[in-house]
Amino acid sequence: MYDVSAAAGFYHQKNVTITGGMGMIGSNLARALVDFGAKVTIVDAMLSQYGGNHFNISGYEDRLTLLPADIRDKAAVDNFIRDQHLLFNFAAQVSHNDSIEDPWSDAQINYLGHLNVLESARLNNPDVRIIYSGSRLQYGKVTTVPTHESHPLNPETPYAFNKTVAESMYRYYYRLHGINSVMFRITNPYGIRGQMKHSRYGIVNYFIRCAMQQEDISVFGDGSQIRDYIYIDDLVEALIAAGASDSAQGQVMNLGSGRGTSFREMAETVVRVVGSGSVSSIPWPDSYINVETGDFIADITLAREVLGWSPETSLEDGIRRTLQFYQRYGEHYTERA
Ligand SMILES: NC(=O)c1ccc[n+]([C@@H]2O[C@H](COP(=O)([O-])OP(=O)(O)OC[C@H]3O[C@@H](n4cnc5c(N)ncnc54)[C@H](O)[C@@H]3O)[C@@H](O)[C@H]2O)c1
Repeated sequence: MYDVSAAAGFYHQKNVTITGGMGMIGSNLARALVDFGAKVTIVDAMLSQYGGNHFNISGYEDRLTLLPADIRDKAAVDNFIRDQHLLFNFAAQVSHNDSIEDPWSDAQINYLGHLNVLESARLNNPDVRIIYSGSRLQYGKVTTVPTHESHPLNPETPYAFNKTVAESMYRYYYRLHGINSVMFRITNPYGIRGQMKHSRYGIVNYFIRCAMQQEDISVFGDGSQIRDYIYIDDLVEALIAAGASDSAQGQVMNLGSGRGTSFREMAETVVRVVGSGSVSSIPWPDSYINVETGDFIADITLAREVLGWSPETSLEDGIRRTLQFYQRYGEHYTERA
């Protein structure tokens, strides 16, 4: 367990901007940093397909600044990046399936939008520290599990291509221009404040919703594919640690639970914890089988060593906490997209 109280002093009175901060990861982080006394600005374009949700900052509206803006807008980026000590740059098109349907939007946000931010940092605020949220999909099909950061990258969809090239850009700006960055390759996050409108990403949250509504959960094939699910609180602790750490700067790190669970076991755990719903199997749709990456578990040794962090939440506990949140606040999250 990472001692967040050590980081609290670091963040006190720091100017911190979180792009995509109305979504799951950004809003949970924003709330923690506000509690540390950071001066938090959330930048979000509130694109309808994604997880941006005003309820995610409920109770915190007067304690942070919300700036409706898009990272594709150069002038807006130049404006918000000045005077910031830290920038958690999470704005993204988040679905790898959507990136197959609409590769342009993916490139415009996940590649060019991030180039905007890096170029603006170089010109307007070269001392800013940036945290980047890449994806385990950058690895594509892996040959060794658990997968270490040194494993070759074989991205297979536009989402994964753009996450990969954006990570290379962060490394380039760090190396050539001295822009401090920490680059994460995140596995499958889930938990409170995540969207459950659709199943195009954030599948654990979506399955919790299905089970709560006594629906059947369809698992592709036999559901034996292994995934690494990380609960949002563990993820946020790693992000907090990375922002506060000098030795993390310039590092590329996996960020996951380090534990593997089959897809079917995840679905069955959801049904058991929720106490309703059911699990059945359907054949793999072509659109999924063609980009299926096979089993994945993140090797998180580097993040453990560099950040002094370790994930603590079991899948069952994380699902239980998520369920309790949605039992209370689900009405704010269930409009189907
Ligand atoms: N959720 C996952 O499965 C997952 C896995 C690995 C990595 N990530 C990465 O983590 C980051 C955060 O994801 P999340 O799970 O919180 O998703 P989310 O959908 O909950 O949040 C994404 C937010 O980004 C905003 N956004 C999108 N495009 C924008 C733009 N051009 N300008 C400003 N805001 C914009 C959306 O409105 C939304 O509020 C993303 O970079 C994502 O790629 C997510």
